[in-house]
Amino acid sequence: GVNLDKMLAKTGMVTLDPGFVNTAACSSDITYIDGEAGILRYRGYPIEQLAGKSDFIEVSYLLIYGELPTQQQYDQFSQRIQRHTLLHEDLRKFFDGFPRDAHPMPVLSSAVSALSTFYQDSLNPFDDNQVELSTHRLLAKLPTIAAYAYKKSVGQPFLYPDNSLGLVQNFLRMTFGFPAEPYEVDPALARALDMLFILHADHEQNCSTSTVRMVGSSEANLFASTSAGINALFGPLHGGANSAVLEMLEGIRAEGGDVDSFVERVKNKEPGVKLMGFGHRVYKNYDPRAKIIKQTADEVLDKLGGDDPLLEIALKLEDRALSDDYFIERKLYPNVDFYTGLIYKAMGFPTKFFTVLFALGRLPGWIAHWREMLVDPERRISRPRQVYTGPTERSYVPIDQR
Ligand code: ACO
Repeated sequence: GVNLDKMLAKTGMVTLDPGFVNTAACSSDITYIDGEAGILRYRGYPIEQLAGKSDFIEVSYLLIYGELPTQQQYDQFSQRIQRHTLLHEDLRKFFDGFPRDAHPMPVLSSAVSALSTFYQDSLNPFDDNQVELSTHRLLAKLPTIAAYAYKKSVGQPFLYPDNSLGLVQNFLRMTFGFPAEPYEVDPALARALDMLFILHADHEQNCSTSTVRMVGSSEANLFASTSAGINALFGPLHGGANSAVLEMLEGIRAEGGDVDSFVERVKNKEPGVKLMGFGHRVYKNYDPRAKIIKQTADEVLDKLGGDDPLLEIALKLEDRALSDDYFIERKLYPNVDFYTGLIYKAMGFPTKFFTVLFALGRLPGWIAHWREMLVDPERRISRPRQVYTGPTERSYVPIDQR
């Protein structure tokens, strides 16, 4: 209940729950997950329906504002985003300073952090107009930042956004196009990426979203809070898993494609050897996002001309794991990341870039949670307690006597 904290404080008792396995840090209206039943809903709408019928802009609106938009609201929202896709010219120069072989995730978080310096007129979390402006700016500029990070890493010239295009089309053109050369966005590719963004758009209190809420609870601005979320997503146990899956599949292929011996190494808990793309804190039956992705992976790989031997290894690995007691007992199933890497690879993205795609998809979720947190009447600064296990009081010893 609401007064549990006060009651416990009086007794001096705290709950110890490393990793927050069973501790809620907030109440939220945004996303519902039933991990046992494999259910995921954004604002009440099943993920299967949204993935099949909606688009990423509409889902972003739904997550942030709570309702599906009318046509007029949709057009206005999407025009506002389209209007803010350009980056300040000085911000472009940031990309010159990073080493070419830099991982694009820290480049992304640094550029988002820098938005606080360039767009100082939209930093006040308690001014509704500024919150709106920073929301539109961030949704519009992150794809441009991501495309620049890509162009930097391959040593190609940057392309300015083309505001006659939608968000995903614009991002694909800025990433794969060349200045002064026409670039036709492949509609199948754009649709597939749009759908993957929908599937990643929110997942309640995951590590990066909790980070955004925690940083935001100090009343830090949206850009600062999101930059922290991007850094949380970078880790291999979270968003970094999509790249790690592909590296794992490539490793298995390089060693002759022996799925059985790899699974044995996982089961023997060899240091650093996990079945990446498997397991989830909440899903203990199946991950509904993985189910949708697996269905489309074949189709997308077909369309994009990818006859990838890694898909065969992935399918074998999944079959092998799902019939093995180690994985059955621990309720380990493929998560959203198990098949996404193969699709991103077929689309032409390098492995290092996969987690950036996750960030683009997750952005509306981060924004929705940051905004919800700010207007929550129960909001307080995030400040967990601890159980102290260090030394009891002792006396200082001067350095020459130690
Ligand atoms: N491969 C092998 N064993 C695993 C795996 C895995 N992928 N995941 C969990 N286990 C084992 C653990 O070793 C543990 O075994 P034990 O009881 O014998 O010690 C048991 O299953 C329970 O796992 P925990 O680590 O306690 O589960 P937790 O909820 O803390 O972690 C996590 C969840 C981080 C997702 C974990 O399953 C994992 O590391 N998976 C691989 C990385 C991955 O795919 N991450 C993406 C997650 S989804 C996302 O961010 C979008």
